[in-house]
Amino acid sequence: MKKYDYVIVGGGLFGGVMAWYARQNGKTCLVIEKRKQLGGNIYCENMEGIPVHRYGAHIFHTSNKKVWQFVNNLAEFNRFTNCPVANYRGEMYNMPFNMNTFSKMWGVSTPEEARAKIDAQRAGITGEPANLEEQAISLVGTDIYEKLIKGYTEKQWGRDCRDLPSFIIKRLPVRYTYDNNYFNDPYQGIPIGGYNVITEKLFEGCDVMLETDYLADRDRFNAMGGRVIYTGTIDAYFGYCYGKLEYRSLRFEDDIYDTDNFQGVAVVNHTAREVPYTRTIEHKHFDCTVDYRTNPKTVVTREYPVAWEAGMEPYYPVNDEKNQSLYQRYAELGKKEDKVLFGGRLAEYRYYDMDKVIESAMEKAEEEFGNLE
Ligand code: FDA
Repeated sequence: MKKYDYVIVGGGLFGGVMAWYARQNGKTCLVIEKRKQLGGNIYCENMEGIPVHRYGAHIFHTSNKKVWQFVNNLAEFNRFTNCPVANYRGEMYNMPFNMNTFSKMWGVSTPEEARAKIDAQRAGITGEPANLEEQAISLVGTDIYEKLIKGYTEKQWGRDCRDLPSFIIKRLPVRYTYDNNYFNDPYQGIPIGGYNVITEKLFEGCDVMLETDYLADRDRFNAMGGRVIYTGTIDAYFGYCYGKLEYRSLRFEDDIYDTDNFQGVAVVNHTAREVPYTRTIEHKHFDCTVDYRTNPKTVVTREYPVAWEAGMEPYYPVNDEKNQSLYQRYAELGKKEDKVLFGGRLAEYRYYDMDKVIESAMEKAEEEFGNLE
């Protein structure tokens, strides 16, 4: 039986960055991945010549220069800037909430007028907000809450905003400038050709077993490697001995249209409660290096939030006390597994943006292999 320095469980970004640094340090790696392909959540499926973000829209943004340099060494990035639009019963608003949004909503033209509107509308909430509705109104007033937050949030969580805790929304991005760029980070873009370009580079030189569940045969895989890097769900690793961690999930429905341009932008948020999906993603607009008119077809994905059940893809961890304290118990067990390094969004039960996952893997790689410079 071939022996490896590392058995890496999960072919996502965390596993990929660890594999990359392991290979740079002359180590051998076996990658075990449950799915049919590597990439984890950043995998892109080619449909009609368009890289389709199979597990949800992925926009790379970071303020960490080291992470930005790392990904730019792996792929060329385009200058995509996320400027999503909200559709509320056919009224179109720019996001995040900025002077374009306020101007459309109230006909105001100066920051002072916009501030006055918001201040007047949030004056009704005094004291500690008792729920998410009060919290949102206290931050942005009633009109923006009713049209752009309420329906979207209720669909996302499957509950009325008055039944959701206020801490879910700590702050809302409000900008008193005419700036539609969703992110504040200085670096942003999408790899030209899609994220698979990055995945291929990250796992170069590794042996890979696809459609293989590590947990189904862990003794055999453990015997094949010195150390295990585990990026799957932590409760599954410990056989759910304390119970199951909860998630919110998503269902994606694709449509191919015979038009070169369906919605004029990559991301539209559908904020009315009666529209069953939260977002429509038109993938071709992620690649602004290709003129969208050159492809007479387009792929649009509708995103439906769904309650998570065992067997579904776990997308968003439920950030409440019950799940967090359950996770802490599993994390304590994890500390006792000295042959195993746990990392990534599933093993750490947290929402991680891509840059933060890379950052975290870089830190772990430094502990594992020494200075990365
Ligand atoms: P990831 O889930 O990618 O990889 C883990 C892998 O392990 C999976 O491939 C899984 O199949 C495999 N695995 C699990 N258990 C296994 C087992 N027992 N045996 C074998 N394999 C196993 N970030 C951002 O910066 N910008 C964005 O726009 C978005 N958008 C976004 C949308 C949606 C819907 C989500 C859910 C997330 C985002 N993200 C994001 C976050 C981004 O997806 C995330 O940071 C990384 O993909 C996490 O990489 P990981 O390697 O941690 O997990």
